[in-house]
Amino acid sequence: MTQDELKQAVARAAIQYVVAGQIVGVGTGSTANFFIDELAKIKDKIPGAVASSEATAARLRSHGIKVLDLNEVTSMPVYIDGADEIDASGAMIKGGGAALTREKIVASVAEKFVCIADGSKLVNVLGKFPLPIEVIPMAQAVVARQLSLLGGEPKLRMKDGKPLLTDNGNVILDVHELEITNPVAMEAVMNNIVGVVTVGLFAKQGANVCLLGMADGVKTLT
Ligand code: A5P
Repeated sequence: MTQDELKQAVARAAIQYVVAGQIVGVGTGSTANFFIDELAKIKDKIPGAVASSEATAARLRSHGIKVLDLNEVTSMPVYIDGADEIDASGAMIKGGGAALTREKIVASVAEKFVCIADGSKLVNVLGKFPLPIEVIPMAQAVVARQLSLLGGEPKLRMKDGKPLLTDNGNVILDVHELEITNPVAMEAVMNNIVGVVTVGLFAKQGANVCLLGMADGVKTLT
């Protein structure tokens, strides 16, 4: 199976977690895109979705799925999204698609986080994938110095020769060379650095369920 076929398989499997008559939170990235395509097939069963990025909102709308403002939503049984890395406890690195802040906000409202990923995303220790941190632009240098003191090598994410700007107008520092043996503690420490908007570690509130696409089928971790 190709990586895309594995992503499609978990996207299909995730549909069982969508609750009829309830709003669903939708993540960002290639796996989330496959999920949106599956969600379109049952769109009449849900009142709408909350998007974690402008890209996801556009894809939802292109399928005729209503996109709701999070400020108008009081309950959300499930948030479904991909990950860049996930460990057996459900802690994740996210933000490879630069949508980490809105992803964390929408996920915080949901009762359950269902992570969908191809099997290559499962790791023993988080950190091989550079950890994305969304930062207020004027604080980029000072935050980078603080992150270096924690043992990482922060690099400003670029796009077309310029710093990449998130949907929120901030920049991203990707922190290389971290071995994250205690994700909950690391998330808390980094959250305390002034100028940091969001840490791409989803550990304190990690995934409740992970659907992993493997060659021999979809494996469920809870
Ligand atoms: C987006 O900012 C990320 O958190 C994505 O969820 C993550 O990068 C996974 O993306 P893929 O599904 O494309 O691998």
